[in-house]
Amino acid sequence: MLWGGRFTEKLNNTAMEFSSSLSFDINLVEEDILVSMAHSTMLADIGIITNDELKSIHNGLTVIKNESSAGVWNPDASIFEDIHSAIESRLGELIGATAGKLHTGRSRNDQVATGFRLWTKKAIANLVEQTSTFQNALLTLAKLHTETIMPGYTHLQRAQPISFAFHLLAYVEMLERDKKRLQFVLDETDSSPLGCGALAGSTLPLDRNTTTEILGFSKPSSNALDAISDRDFVLDFLNACNIGMMHISRLSEELILWSTSEFNFIKLGDAFTTGSSLMPQKKNPDMAELSRGKTGRVYGNYTAIATMMKGLPLSYNRDMQEDKEPIFDSFKSYSQALSMMTGMIETLSVNENRFVDELEGDFLFATELAEWLVVKGITFRDSHHIVGEVVKVAEDNNVKLHQLTIEQLKNINIVFDETALEVFKVDGALYRKKTYGSPNPDMVRSEIEKWNKLLNRNNIIF
Ligand code: ARG
Repeated sequence: MLWGGRFTEKLNNTAMEFSSSLSFDINLVEEDILVSMAHSTMLADIGIITNDELKSIHNGLTVIKNESSAGVWNPDASIFEDIHSAIESRLGELIGATAGKLHTGRSRNDQVATGFRLWTKKAIANLVEQTSTFQNALLTLAKLHTETIMPGYTHLQRAQPISFAFHLLAYVEMLERDKKRLQFVLDETDSSPLGCGALAGSTLPLDRNTTTEILGFSKPSSNALDAISDRDFVLDFLNACNIGMMHISRLSEELILWSTSEFNFIKLGDAFTTGSSLMPQKKNPDMAELSRGKTGRVYGNYTAIATMMKGLPLSYNRDMQEDKEPIFDSFKSYSQALSMMTGMIETLSVNENRFVDELEGDFLFATELAEWLVVKGITFRDSHHIVGEVVKVAEDNNVKLHQLTIEQLKNINIVFDETALEVFKVDGALYRKKTYGSPNPDMVRSEIEKWNKLLNRNNIIF
């Protein structure tokens, strides 16, 4: 028990169960030990503890760290309020009364805020790395499909021809924004609250720069009251998880659609699909569905913390202990989903020619025909109308656009000539795109090259 001097009774058992965070803040064991090591080093530097005491504290903490990673130290949640008190108590068992000096000038408030920031920085580094791996998997697949034609959609209606590589590169862009967002969260997280005490610093000459440096933070936080009260970095992190998961969820949905018999565009690898207990023919895209589904709980985690923080007076309130489970859960879901997506992309096979015949003369070339008319000097509004008539004639005759005769086209508008029929051809359709950022295979190939160079650089600064 960390407190108790003024109490005559111990905490009610149910109240202990209700309030203990040990079952989940055990995740912070390494970070809490790092914080204690840095704090005690600084206490020795300023002469509050002796070097022998420091040695004994460090030895004890190292033992706890090893016991914990070996799984032989499992503190009991019915006895300890949290990981911080459990470690301090174990330290007492190991080194005796000197353990009581560790908490000098420190509160669990700055201790937990510091450890939690360290954990968050580590989680960000993991997610950034996993996102880069996922981008690499997309690029590897994209390289093979710069000429694999598929319909691009708006409103899930066929709109214009694109390539599979172009579609995959859209996700590479999204993932890059996810990494930038995480980089921003890292900057927000990268200040040390250690030495802020319960809310107002200390009368002891604690050297906050020393602990900041030992723990690898870029600066000490500058207002103790804010540093203890602040959980913005948690919300920023959770929101980065939200948007990252939203992107994953969209790709999941597409993988699910593309692998249906109706689309028949891709086949997911066996290692990332499941069967049905009843229907022997089934191959289900469960990993994509779960990635899509887990997005809901990740959004819920953000809402939980935003709601918990709303209206809290400064500085620490016990409500804030509720910040941990949601962030651990969002991290786990996001990290697992990233590895599922990477695995699915690495193992799927593509039905490359799926759309070649089907798109020949498809109405999705209508926009291109309108642009052909624009080049002939017709305003876009008029050409849009004319092509609308072309589509209608084809529909009325139950034929595709490339099956129309030049006479039929000339009947609609005299400007049409043989070259108009060229635009209905799948062959060369992608190369006819001229703008930067379009699915023109030459441009897509140079984008892939650009991304390969970018991803081989480590673009996050820790
Ligand atoms: N378990 C607490 C938490 O995670 C630690 C801080 C407790 N501070 C306190 N003043 N009771 O928030």
